Amino acid sequence: MKIQYQLWLIFSSLFLIVCFVVYMFVLSTYEQRLQEGYEQIAIAQGTPIIDEIKDTYPYTPNRSIGYLQRYSEQVNGRLIMLDHNKNVYADSYQQLKSNTSLNLTILERDTAPGSLFIKTDPFGYVQYTLFPFQKLDNKGYLLMIQKADQLYTEVKAFQKWMVYTLLIALAVFFFISYFVSTWFSKPIREIIFHLKKITPQKRSFSVKHRRNDEVKELINALQNMVEELNLYDERQRRFLSTSSHELKTPLATIQLILENLPYVREKEETFDEFVQDLSFQVQKMKQMVDQLLHINRIWDKQLNKNKLHTQDIQRHLLRSFQHIAQDKQIVLDFDFEPVHLFVDRALFLRGLDNVVSNAIRYSPKGQSVEISIQQDKGNIQISVCDLGIGISKEDLPHIYEPFYRANDATAWNQEGSGLGLTIVKQMIELHKGSITIDTVQNEGTCIHLFLQNT
Ligand SMILES: Nc1ncnc2c1ncn2[C@@H]1O[C@H](COP(=O)(O)OP(=O)(O)OP(=O)(O)O)[C@@H](O)[C@H]1O
Ligand SMILES: [Mg+2]
Repeated sequence: MKIQYQLWLIFSSLFLIVCFVVYMFVLSTYEQRLQEGYEQIAIAQGTPIIDEIKDTYPYTPNRSIGYLQRYSEQVNGRLIMLDHNKNVYADSYQQLKSNTSLNLTILERDTAPGSLFIKTDPFGYVQYTLFPFQKLDNKGYLLMIQKADQLYTEVKAFQKWMVYTLLIALAVFFFISYFVSTWFSKPIREIIFHLKKITPQKRSFSVKHRRNDEVKELINALQNMVEELNLYDERQRRFLSTSSHELKTPLATIQLILENLPYVREKEETFDEFVQDLSFQVQKMKQMVDQLLHINRIWDKQLNKNKLHTQDIQRHLLRSFQHIAQDKQIVLDFDFEPVHLFVDRALFLRGLDNVVSNAIRYSPKGQSVEISIQQDKGNIQISVCDLGIGISKEDLPHIYEPFYRANDATAWNQEGSGLGLTIVKQMIELHKGSITIDTVQNEGTCIHLFLQNT
Protein backbone atom coordinates (compact mmCIF):
# COMPACT_ATOMS: atom_id res chain seq x y z
CA MET A 1 0.00 0.00 0.00
CA LYS A 2 1.33 3.47 -0.83
CA ILE A 3 2.75 5.51 2.08
CA GLN A 4 0.23 8.21 1.29
CA TYR A 5 -2.69 5.84 1.96
CA GLN A 6 -0.98 4.26 4.94
CA LEU A 7 -0.63 7.69 6.54
CA TRP A 8 -4.21 8.53 5.66
CA LEU A 9 -5.43 5.32 7.24
CA ILE A 10 -3.38 5.87 10.40
CA PHE A 11 -4.52 9.50 10.81
CA SER A 12 -8.16 8.58 10.20
CA SER A 13 -8.10 5.58 12.56
CA LEU A 14 -6.53 7.67 15.30
CA PHE A 15 -9.09 10.40 14.84
CA LEU A 16 -11.89 7.83 14.87
CA ILE A 17 -10.65 6.47 18.20
CA VAL A 18 -10.34 9.99 19.62
CA CYS A 19 -13.91 10.77 18.44
CA PHE A 20 -15.24 7.64 20.08
CA VAL A 21 -13.53 8.41 23.40
CA VAL A 22 -14.74 12.02 23.32
CA TYR A 23 -18.24 10.84 22.44
CA MET A 24 -18.37 8.39 25.35
CA PHE A 25 -16.92 10.86 27.82
CA VAL A 26 -19.08 13.84 26.85
CA LEU A 27 -22.23 11.75 26.70
CA SER A 28 -21.73 10.17 30.09
CA THR A 29 -20.81 13.55 31.66
CA TYR A 30 -23.88 15.15 30.13
CA GLU A 31 -26.12 12.32 31.38
CA GLN A 32 -24.58 12.56 34.84
CA ARG A 33 -25.12 16.33 35.03
CA LEU A 34 -28.76 15.92 33.94
CA GLN A 35 -29.32 13.19 36.53
CA GLU A 36 -27.85 15.45 39.23
CA GLY A 37 -30.30 18.17 38.18
CA TYR A 38 -33.25 15.77 38.33
CA GLU A 39 -32.07 14.51 41.70
CA GLN A 40 -32.03 18.06 43.11
CA ILE A 41 -35.58 18.62 41.86
CA ALA A 42 -36.77 15.33 43.42
CA ILE A 43 -35.12 16.17 46.75
CA ALA A 44 -36.70 19.62 46.70
CA GLN A 45 -40.11 17.99 46.06
CA GLY A 46 -39.71 15.22 48.64
CA THR A 47 -38.26 17.11 51.63
CA PRO A 48 -41.46 19.10 52.46
CA ILE A 49 -43.53 15.90 52.06
CA ILE A 50 -41.50 14.17 54.75
CA ASP A 51 -42.12 17.03 57.18
CA GLU A 52 -45.87 16.53 56.65
CA ILE A 53 -46.14 12.75 56.77
CA LYS A 54 -43.61 12.13 59.53
CA ASP A 55 -46.31 12.63 62.20
CA THR A 56 -48.39 9.73 60.86
CA TYR A 57 -45.51 7.30 61.31
CA PRO A 58 -45.50 4.58 62.67
CA TYR A 59 -48.89 4.32 64.31
CA THR A 60 -51.49 5.54 61.79
CA PRO A 61 -50.79 3.85 58.42
CA ASN A 62 -54.19 4.81 57.00
CA ARG A 63 -53.53 8.48 57.57
CA SER A 64 -50.14 7.98 56.00
CA ILE A 65 -51.72 6.46 52.87
CA GLY A 66 -54.05 9.45 52.59
CA TYR A 67 -51.13 11.84 52.68
CA LEU A 68 -49.15 9.75 50.27
CA GLN A 69 -52.02 9.65 47.77
CA ARG A 70 -52.35 13.41 47.89
CA TYR A 71 -48.68 14.10 47.44
CA SER A 72 -48.33 11.34 44.85
CA GLU A 73 -50.50 13.37 42.47
CA GLN A 74 -48.51 16.47 43.30
CA VAL A 75 -45.16 14.91 42.40
CA ASN A 76 -46.65 12.84 39.60
CA GLY A 77 -45.21 9.61 40.96
CA ARG A 78 -45.65 6.79 43.44
CA LEU A 79 -44.81 7.32 47.12
CA ILE A 80 -44.00 4.45 49.45
CA MET A 81 -43.23 4.78 53.14
CA LEU A 82 -40.85 2.18 54.55
CA ASP A 83 -40.20 1.17 58.13
CA HIS A 84 -36.79 1.02 59.79
CA ASN A 85 -36.18 -2.41 58.15
CA LYS A 86 -37.02 -0.89 54.75
CA ASN A 87 -40.16 -3.02 54.48
CA VAL A 88 -43.33 -1.42 53.15
CA TYR A 89 -45.26 0.63 55.69
CA ALA A 90 -47.67 2.47 53.36
CA ASP A 91 -48.04 2.68 49.58
CA SER A 92 -49.76 5.53 47.73
CA TYR A 93 -51.00 3.03 45.13
CA GLN A 94 -52.20 0.70 47.93
CA GLN A 95 -50.89 -2.27 45.94
CA LEU A 96 -48.12 -3.30 48.30
CA LYS A 97 -49.16 -4.79 51.59
CA SER A 98 -47.65 -3.63 54.83
CA ASN A 99 -44.34 -5.35 55.72
CA THR A 100 -43.64 -6.39 52.12
CA SER A 101 -39.94 -6.60 51.51
CA LEU A 102 -38.72 -4.78 48.37
CA ASN A 103 -35.75 -5.83 46.30
CA LEU A 104 -34.41 -2.50 45.04
CA THR A 105 -30.79 -1.34 44.72
CA ILE A 106 -31.57 2.12 46.05
CA LEU A 107 -32.53 0.57 49.40
CA GLU A 108 -28.89 -0.30 49.97
CA ARG A 109 -28.29 3.42 50.60
CA ASP A 110 -29.02 4.81 54.02
CA THR A 111 -27.95 8.25 55.08
CA ALA A 112 -28.60 11.24 52.82
CA PRO A 113 -31.53 11.54 50.40
CA GLY A 114 -30.52 10.57 46.87
CA SER A 115 -31.78 9.32 43.51
CA LEU A 116 -31.10 6.31 41.39
CA PHE A 117 -32.01 6.11 37.74
CA ILE A 118 -32.93 2.83 36.09
CA LYS A 119 -32.99 2.83 32.32
CA THR A 120 -35.88 0.88 30.87
CA ASP A 121 -35.75 0.66 27.09
CA PRO A 122 -37.83 1.91 25.37
CA PHE A 123 -39.79 3.60 28.14
CA GLY A 124 -36.95 5.72 29.42
CA TYR A 125 -35.66 6.34 32.88
CA VAL A 126 -37.43 5.57 36.17
CA GLN A 127 -36.16 7.74 39.01
CA TYR A 128 -36.09 6.28 42.52
CA THR A 129 -35.42 8.78 45.31
CA LEU A 130 -34.99 7.63 48.87
CA PHE A 131 -35.38 9.99 51.86
CA PRO A 132 -34.37 8.69 55.28
CA PHE A 133 -36.15 10.41 58.24
CA GLN A 134 -36.29 10.09 61.99
CA LYS A 135 -39.29 10.51 64.20
CA LEU A 136 -38.26 10.39 67.85
CA ASP A 137 -36.74 6.93 68.21
CA ASN A 138 -38.28 5.57 65.05
CA LYS A 139 -36.38 5.57 61.81
CA GLY A 140 -38.29 5.47 58.56
CA TYR A 141 -37.90 6.10 54.81
CA LEU A 142 -39.87 7.65 52.01
CA LEU A 143 -39.35 6.17 48.57
CA MET A 144 -40.42 8.33 45.64
CA ILE A 145 -40.75 6.62 42.23
CA GLN A 146 -41.12 8.93 39.19
CA LYS A 147 -40.88 8.59 35.48
CA ALA A 148 -37.94 10.56 34.03
CA ASP A 149 -38.90 10.45 30.34
CA GLN A 150 -37.79 14.01 29.83
CA LEU A 151 -34.28 13.15 30.91
CA TYR A 152 -34.26 10.22 28.52
CA THR A 153 -35.44 12.42 25.66
CA GLU A 154 -32.84 15.07 26.43
CA VAL A 155 -30.05 12.48 26.51
CA LYS A 156 -31.24 10.98 23.22
CA ALA A 157 -31.42 14.42 21.58
CA PHE A 158 -27.93 15.29 22.79
CA GLN A 159 -26.64 11.91 21.64
CA LYS A 160 -28.07 12.55 18.17
CA TRP A 161 -26.50 15.99 18.02
CA MET A 162 -23.15 14.56 19.10
CA VAL A 163 -23.25 11.81 16.46
CA TYR A 164 -24.01 14.29 13.68
CA THR A 165 -21.33 16.72 14.85
CA LEU A 166 -18.71 13.99 15.11
CA LEU A 167 -19.66 12.56 11.71
CA ILE A 168 -19.19 15.98 10.14
CA ALA A 169 -15.87 16.42 12.01
CA LEU A 170 -14.82 12.97 10.84
CA ALA A 171 -15.67 13.72 7.22
CA VAL A 172 -13.78 17.03 7.39
CA PHE A 173 -10.83 15.30 9.02
CA PHE A 174 -10.79 12.51 6.40
CA PHE A 175 -10.62 15.18 3.76
CA ILE A 176 -7.89 17.19 5.49
CA SER A 177 -5.84 14.13 6.42
CA TYR A 178 -5.92 12.96 2.78
CA PHE A 179 -4.33 16.23 1.71
CA VAL A 180 -1.87 16.22 4.61
CA SER A 181 -0.69 12.67 3.83
CA THR A 182 -0.49 13.47 0.11
CA TRP A 183 1.58 16.56 0.89
CA PHE A 184 3.71 14.65 3.40
CA SER A 185 4.54 11.78 1.07
CA LYS A 186 5.09 14.02 -1.98
CA PRO A 187 8.90 14.15 -1.58
CA ILE A 188 9.06 10.35 -1.50
CA ARG A 189 7.08 10.13 -4.73
CA GLU A 190 9.39 12.73 -6.26
CA ILE A 191 12.48 10.80 -5.14
CA ILE A 192 11.11 7.61 -6.72
CA PHE A 193 10.20 9.50 -9.90
CA HIS A 194 13.71 10.94 -10.26
CA LEU A 195 15.39 7.66 -9.32
CA LYS A 196 13.43 5.85 -12.02
CA LYS A 197 14.68 8.39 -14.56
CA ILE A 198 18.30 7.45 -13.90
CA THR A 199 19.85 5.38 -16.66
CA PRO A 200 23.46 4.20 -17.15
CA GLN A 201 23.72 6.86 -19.88
CA LYS A 202 22.15 9.68 -17.88
CA ARG A 203 22.93 9.61 -14.20
CA SER A 204 21.65 12.79 -12.53
CA PHE A 205 19.52 13.27 -9.47
CA SER A 206 18.17 16.49 -8.03
CA VAL A 207 15.04 16.94 -5.93
CA LYS A 208 14.11 20.25 -4.32
CA HIS A 209 13.09 19.92 -0.69
CA ARG A 210 12.81 22.91 1.65
CA ARG A 211 12.26 21.20 5.02
CA ASN A 212 15.39 20.33 6.95
CA ASP A 213 14.45 16.77 7.90
CA GLU A 214 15.32 13.11 7.24
CA VAL A 215 13.95 13.33 3.70
CA LYS A 216 16.45 16.12 3.04
CA GLU A 217 19.17 13.85 4.44
CA LEU A 218 17.99 11.03 2.19
CA ILE A 219 17.99 13.32 -0.87
CA ASN A 220 21.50 14.55 -0.02
CA ALA A 221 22.72 10.97 0.51
CA LEU A 222 21.23 9.88 -2.82
CA GLN A 223 22.69 12.91 -4.56
CA ASN A 224 26.12 12.10 -3.13
CA MET A 225 25.74 8.47 -4.14
CA VAL A 226 24.88 9.39 -7.73
CA GLU A 227 27.80 11.84 -7.85
CA GLU A 228 30.13 9.16 -6.45
CA LEU A 229 28.84 6.72 -9.06
CA ASN A 230 29.45 9.23 -11.81
CA LEU A 231 32.93 9.88 -10.48
CA TYR A 232 33.59 6.17 -10.26
CA ASP A 233 32.28 5.68 -13.75
CA GLU A 234 34.40 8.52 -15.05
CA ARG A 235 37.47 7.11 -13.27
CA GLN A 236 36.80 3.65 -14.70
CA ARG A 237 36.45 5.03 -18.19
CA ARG A 238 39.61 7.11 -17.85
CA PHE A 239 41.43 4.13 -16.42
CA LEU A 240 40.35 1.94 -19.31
CA SER A 241 41.30 4.47 -21.98
CA THR A 242 44.62 5.29 -20.31
CA SER A 243 45.38 1.58 -19.86
CA SER A 244 44.77 0.81 -23.49
CA HIS A 245 46.72 3.88 -24.54
CA GLU A 246 49.66 2.96 -22.29
CA LEU A 247 49.62 -0.61 -23.57
CA LYS A 248 49.56 0.60 -27.14
CA THR A 249 52.88 2.43 -26.79
CA PRO A 250 55.08 -0.67 -26.14
CA LEU A 251 52.96 -2.59 -28.65
CA ALA A 252 53.68 -0.01 -31.33
CA THR A 253 57.41 -0.21 -30.52
CA ILE A 254 57.27 -4.03 -30.68
CA GLN A 255 55.51 -3.86 -34.02
CA LEU A 256 58.09 -1.43 -35.35
CA ILE A 257 60.98 -3.60 -34.20
CA LEU A 258 59.39 -6.73 -35.65
CA GLU A 259 58.81 -5.03 -39.00
CA ASN A 260 62.44 -3.97 -39.18
CA LEU A 261 63.94 -7.18 -37.84
CA PRO A 262 64.21 -8.95 -41.26
CA TYR A 263 66.27 -6.05 -42.62
CA VAL A 264 68.92 -6.19 -39.91
CA ARG A 265 69.31 -9.95 -39.89
CA GLU A 266 72.70 -9.60 -41.54
CA LYS A 267 74.01 -6.99 -39.08
CA GLU A 268 74.56 -9.05 -35.99
CA GLU A 269 75.11 -6.15 -33.59
CA THR A 270 71.97 -4.28 -34.59
CA PHE A 271 70.01 -7.54 -34.64
CA ASP A 272 71.03 -8.25 -31.01
CA GLU A 273 70.16 -4.70 -30.05
CA PHE A 274 66.72 -5.10 -31.64
CA VAL A 275 66.13 -8.40 -29.84
CA GLN A 276 67.14 -6.79 -26.53
CA ASP A 277 64.76 -3.89 -27.14
CA LEU A 278 62.07 -6.38 -27.97
CA SER A 279 62.65 -8.26 -24.77
CA PHE A 280 62.64 -4.99 -22.78
CA GLN A 281 59.33 -3.90 -24.28
CA VAL A 282 57.74 -7.30 -23.68
CA GLN A 283 59.00 -7.22 -20.09
CA LYS A 284 57.55 -3.74 -19.64
CA MET A 285 54.19 -4.83 -21.02
CA LYS A 286 54.19 -7.90 -18.84
CA GLN A 287 54.85 -5.78 -15.76
CA MET A 288 52.14 -3.34 -16.70
CA VAL A 289 49.56 -6.03 -17.34
CA ASP A 290 50.55 -7.67 -14.09
CA GLN A 291 50.09 -4.39 -12.14
CA LEU A 292 46.79 -3.70 -13.92
CA LEU A 293 45.46 -7.12 -13.05
CA HIS A 294 46.57 -6.60 -9.49
CA ILE A 295 44.82 -3.22 -9.22
CA ASN A 296 41.59 -4.67 -10.56
CA ARG A 297 41.66 -7.75 -8.37
CA ILE A 298 42.66 -6.01 -5.19
CA TRP A 299 39.21 -4.52 -4.45
CA ASP A 300 37.48 -7.89 -4.49
CA LYS A 301 40.17 -9.38 -2.31
CA GLN A 302 39.35 -10.41 1.23
CA LEU A 303 42.11 -9.27 3.60
CA ASN A 304 43.97 -12.23 5.00
CA LYS A 305 45.68 -10.65 8.00
CA ASN A 306 48.53 -12.46 9.70
CA LYS A 307 51.47 -11.68 11.94
CA LEU A 308 54.49 -10.40 10.04
CA HIS A 309 57.68 -9.67 11.98
CA THR A 310 59.77 -6.65 11.01
CA GLN A 311 62.77 -9.00 10.70
CA ASP A 312 60.99 -10.87 7.91
CA ILE A 313 60.19 -7.57 6.24
CA GLN A 314 63.86 -6.55 6.33
CA ARG A 315 64.89 -9.95 4.94
CA HIS A 316 62.36 -9.62 2.13
CA LEU A 317 63.44 -6.08 1.23
CA LEU A 318 67.11 -7.05 1.18
CA ARG A 319 66.37 -10.01 -1.05
CA SER A 320 64.37 -7.84 -3.45
CA PHE A 321 66.47 -4.65 -3.55
CA GLN A 322 69.99 -5.43 -2.40
CA HIS A 323 71.35 -5.92 -5.93
CA ILE A 324 69.53 -3.01 -7.52
CA ALA A 325 70.70 -0.76 -4.66
CA GLN A 326 74.28 -2.01 -4.96
CA ASP A 327 74.16 -1.36 -8.68
CA LYS A 328 73.38 2.30 -7.95
CA GLN A 329 75.71 2.35 -4.94
CA ILE A 330 72.75 3.16 -2.75
CA VAL A 331 72.88 2.22 0.91
CA LEU A 332 69.71 0.84 2.47
CA ASP A 333 69.44 1.95 6.12
CA PHE A 334 67.02 -0.09 8.21
CA ASP A 335 65.65 1.15 11.52
CA PHE A 336 63.09 -1.48 12.44
CA GLU A 337 61.57 -1.87 15.89
CA PRO A 338 61.30 -5.61 16.56
CA VAL A 339 57.51 -5.89 16.43
CA HIS A 340 54.85 -7.96 14.73
CA LEU A 341 52.66 -6.24 12.18
CA PHE A 342 49.18 -7.55 11.72
CA VAL A 343 48.72 -7.25 7.93
CA ASP A 344 47.88 -9.10 4.74
CA ARG A 345 51.41 -10.32 4.00
CA ALA A 346 51.32 -10.44 0.19
CA LEU A 347 49.41 -7.19 -0.20
CA PHE A 348 51.49 -5.29 2.33
CA LEU A 349 54.85 -6.40 0.91
CA ARG A 350 53.76 -5.57 -2.62
CA GLY A 351 52.82 -2.04 -1.47
CA LEU A 352 56.05 -1.57 0.49
CA ASP A 353 58.08 -2.86 -2.47
CA ASN A 354 56.60 -0.11 -4.62
CA VAL A 355 57.52 2.62 -2.12
CA VAL A 356 61.08 1.31 -1.65
CA SER A 357 61.56 0.78 -5.39
CA ASN A 358 60.49 4.42 -5.98
CA ALA A 359 62.96 5.66 -3.34
CA ILE A 360 65.81 3.77 -5.08
CA ARG A 361 64.62 4.57 -8.59
CA TYR A 362 64.31 8.33 -8.01
CA SER A 363 67.58 8.71 -6.04
CA PRO A 364 70.89 9.59 -7.68
CA LYS A 365 73.83 7.24 -7.38
CA GLY A 366 75.64 6.98 -4.06
CA GLN A 367 72.79 8.21 -1.86
CA SER A 368 71.15 6.38 1.00
CA VAL A 369 67.54 5.30 1.54
CA GLU A 370 66.23 5.11 5.10
CA ILE A 371 63.48 2.67 5.88
CA SER A 372 62.01 2.66 9.39
CA ILE A 373 59.16 0.90 11.19
CA GLN A 374 58.04 2.16 14.59
CA GLN A 375 55.14 1.22 16.82
CA ASP A 376 53.37 3.65 19.16
CA LYS A 377 50.42 2.34 21.22
CA GLY A 378 49.20 0.01 18.54
CA ASN A 379 49.82 2.50 15.73
CA ILE A 380 52.43 1.55 13.20
CA GLN A 381 54.38 4.12 11.22
CA ILE A 382 56.44 2.99 8.24
CA SER A 383 58.64 5.65 6.66
CA VAL A 384 60.71 5.42 3.50
CA CYS A 385 62.97 8.47 3.00
CA ASP A 386 65.31 9.23 0.15
CA LEU A 387 67.53 12.10 -0.97
CA GLY A 388 66.31 11.95 -4.54
CA ILE A 389 64.64 14.21 -7.07
CA GLY A 390 61.56 14.99 -4.93
CA ILE A 391 58.07 15.72 -6.25
CA SER A 392 56.86 19.13 -7.39
CA LYS A 393 53.78 20.76 -5.84
CA GLU A 394 51.95 20.46 -9.16
CA ASP A 395 52.57 16.72 -9.40
CA LEU A 396 51.91 15.88 -5.77
CA PRO A 397 48.06 15.80 -5.91
CA HIS A 398 48.14 13.39 -8.88
CA ILE A 399 50.76 10.82 -8.02
CA TYR A 400 48.20 8.23 -6.80
CA GLU A 401 46.34 8.38 -10.10
CA PRO A 402 46.92 5.35 -12.32
CA PHE A 403 49.64 5.94 -14.98
CA TYR A 404 50.55 9.33 -13.55
CA ARG A 405 54.25 10.02 -13.77
CA ALA A 406 55.83 13.36 -13.00
CA ASN A 407 57.72 14.99 -15.83
CA ASP A 408 60.88 14.82 -13.74
CA ALA A 409 60.41 11.10 -13.29
CA THR A 410 59.93 10.46 -16.98
CA ALA A 411 63.03 12.47 -17.80
CA TRP A 412 64.99 10.80 -15.01
CA ASN A 413 63.91 7.27 -15.63
CA GLN A 414 62.17 5.79 -18.65
CA GLU A 415 61.03 2.76 -16.73
CA GLY A 416 57.85 2.67 -14.74
CA SER A 417 54.23 2.80 -15.68
CA GLY A 418 52.86 5.07 -12.94
CA LEU A 419 50.86 2.32 -11.25
CA GLY A 420 53.02 1.70 -8.17
CA LEU A 421 51.54 4.34 -5.86
CA THR A 422 48.01 3.47 -7.00
CA ILE A 423 48.66 -0.01 -5.60
CA VAL A 424 50.18 1.43 -2.39
CA LYS A 425 47.14 3.65 -1.84
CA GLN A 426 44.75 0.74 -2.42
CA MET A 427 46.71 -1.44 -0.01
CA ILE A 428 46.64 1.24 2.69
CA GLU A 429 42.91 1.93 2.20
CA LEU A 430 42.13 -1.78 2.44
CA HIS A 431 44.05 -1.88 5.73
CA LYS A 432 42.09 1.22 6.87
CA GLY A 433 45.32 3.18 7.26
CA SER A 434 46.58 6.44 5.79
CA ILE A 435 49.47 7.74 3.74
CA THR A 436 51.31 11.09 3.80
CA ILE A 437 54.20 12.48 1.78
CA ASP A 438 56.86 15.05 2.79
CA THR A 439 58.80 16.12 -0.21
CA VAL A 440 61.04 18.94 -1.43
CA GLN A 441 62.00 19.07 -5.08
CA ASN A 442 65.62 18.13 -5.70
CA GLU A 443 66.14 17.39 -2.00
CA GLY A 444 64.25 14.21 -1.29
CA THR A 445 61.02 12.50 -0.36
CA CYS A 446 59.65 10.79 2.73
CA ILE A 447 56.61 8.56 2.34
CA HIS A 448 54.87 7.67 5.63
CA LEU A 449 52.41 4.83 5.88
CA PHE A 450 50.21 4.66 8.99
CA LEU A 451 48.46 1.47 10.03
CA GLN A 452 46.54 0.35 13.07
CA ASN A 453 48.07 -2.82 14.35
CA THR A 454 44.81 -4.72 14.87
N1 LIG B 1 60.45 8.69 -3.98
C1 LIG B 1 60.05 9.42 -4.99
N2 LIG B 1 60.80 10.48 -5.37
C2 LIG B 1 60.42 11.24 -6.41
N3 LIG B 1 59.29 11.06 -7.11
C3 LIG B 1 58.51 10.02 -6.75
C4 LIG B 1 58.85 9.15 -5.69
N4 LIG B 1 57.86 8.24 -5.58
C5 LIG B 1 56.97 8.52 -6.52
N5 LIG B 1 57.33 9.58 -7.25
C6 LIG B 1 56.61 10.21 -8.37
O1 LIG B 1 55.29 9.67 -8.40
C7 LIG B 1 55.03 9.07 -9.68
C8 LIG B 1 54.13 7.88 -9.48
O2 LIG B 1 54.80 6.86 -8.82
P1 LIG B 1 54.44 5.37 -9.11
O3 LIG B 1 55.22 4.53 -8.22
O4 LIG B 1 52.95 5.29 -9.06
O5 LIG B 1 54.83 5.17 -10.61
P2 LIG B 1 56.23 4.86 -11.23
O6 LIG B 1 57.23 4.68 -10.21
O7 LIG B 1 56.44 5.95 -12.23
O8 LIG B 1 55.94 3.52 -12.01
P3 LIG B 1 55.71 2.04 -11.43
O9 LIG B 1 54.36 1.70 -11.86
O10 LIG B 1 56.73 1.21 -12.07
O11 LIG B 1 55.85 2.17 -9.96
C9 LIG B 1 56.37 8.72 -10.19
O12 LIG B 1 56.35 8.66 -11.59
C10 LIG B 1 57.20 9.90 -9.68
O13 LIG B 1 57.01 11.00 -10.52
MG1 LIG C 1 56.85 3.27 -8.65
